[in-house]
Amino acid sequence: MEKLFVEGGKKLNGRVHIGGAKNSAVALLPATILADSEVTIEGLPDISDVETLSALLEDIGGVVTKEDHAIKIDPSQMMAMPLPNGKVKTLRASYYFMGAMLGRFKKAVVGLPGGCHLGPRPIDQHIKGFEALGAEVSNEQGAIYLRAKELKGARIYMDVVSVGATINIMLAAVRAKGKTVIENAAKEPEIIDVATLLTSMGAKIKGAGTDVIRIEGVDQLSGCMHTIIPDRIEAGTYTIMAAAQGEEVYIDNVIPQHLEPLIAKLREMGIDITEDEESLIIRPKKALSAVDIKTLVHPGFPTDLQQPFTSLLTKAEGTAIVTDTIYSARFKHIDELRRMNAKIKVEGASAIVQGPVQLQGAKVRATDLRAGAALVVAGLIADGVTEITGLEHIDRGYENLIEKLESLGAKIWRESMTKEEMLTYQNN
Ligand code: EPU
Repeated sequence: MEKLFVEGGKKLNGRVHIGGAKNSAVALLPATILADSEVTIEGLPDISDVETLSALLEDIGGVVTKEDHAIKIDPSQMMAMPLPNGKVKTLRASYYFMGAMLGRFKKAVVGLPGGCHLGPRPIDQHIKGFEALGAEVSNEQGAIYLRAKELKGARIYMDVVSVGATINIMLAAVRAKGKTVIENAAKEPEIIDVATLLTSMGAKIKGAGTDVIRIEGVDQLSGCMHTIIPDRIEAGTYTIMAAAQGEEVYIDNVIPQHLEPLIAKLREMGIDITEDEESLIIRPKKALSAVDIKTLVHPGFPTDLQQPFTSLLTKAEGTAIVTDTIYSARFKHIDELRRMNAKIKVEGASAIVQGPVQLQGAKVRATDLRAGAALVVAGLIADGVTEITGLEHIDRGYENLIEKLESLGAKIWRESMTKEEMLTYQNN
């Protein structure tokens, strides 16, 4: 186990290249189960969630070959092996094995997923969708059992707008008999990316990216080649880092439209941002003003950037209110930021940030992926050295974080934890 050190105060300059989208990758990989021949996915991020899902595909008989950022998956020999625990519990996206295996084998046993602790994260909408398509679903000792004689298209209204449930229902429906309509679907770019892969495999999907998705089931899907979209959350995180500590930073391989709410808020704060076709140029010129943010489903401000954005707000003049309407308890980073001298209080689903303050380096713990990103942002701004444990969360979603930040001029490094430190960490 390792910990991360950031020596604050260094100015960031230069270019950073954004990798493929984590939240697409984690759905695209299970989606390959639905094909009957080899699927190639290019531009995958080098993160531990991709490793875990590739290993799960191998566990059910997939032949997986990796080369640089590309992966080839031959799903022809896959079987409906039960995946009750172990790896499935280390991440959220293992729930996509439910929809994909149900779609191909008409049965699946998958442990309840893990992932970041952001308050309650039920999967009732996924189950509602599977049942509407004709599956029997039961929860036995922490694993979800799914079985269907056949899957039949249905009209499914989502009571909650959910990225995971929308994708999972698409996965189960593309090989069902007849027509499925998903109403009140989520509209995130990752949903369009998954629909693009499925369409290249031969699926018939219309409306991905709108709140009504129509799917006409087909009997068979075949192999194809797919290039993943850039990671808007990784891009947003570096954009926030550049806003916090940059002089002139180019964020390359982005789709600026995916970052509109963040760009708008940073401009309101007084940051100069130029949008190019596939790049953003960030040039912070003056003192920052506080702004309020409220996380919303896409195309609103993404909850995944709320935590890193809160660290930036500690530098801004005035009081800012940060409200998370997606995960009302996504505030575990606040205690850690307070250790670093931030003046923030949490009231209900809002954090109230008083700025500007000079953050001070401290020993802090990343409790989830984006909390980790928030602490790295804070470490870059802070006086002195910040020591961050909980790196396993950050490694799930940020490829080559150290190399990318070093190339921008940050002072950041990893060190192994001593046995005592590991024990203390594991016991707390
Ligand atoms: N919800 C339900 N019932 C359901 C599903 C969701 O009530 O059956 C609720 C959730 O509790 C939450 C809201 O609906 O309040 C939205 O949840 P959603 O299902 O959209 O989230 P998710 O699919 O589990 C994905 C990302 C998250 C990201 C959210 C919201 C993946 C693997 N995860 O989660 O990403 O925060 O969408 O955009 O795609 C991250 O990358 O750090 C991360 C947590």
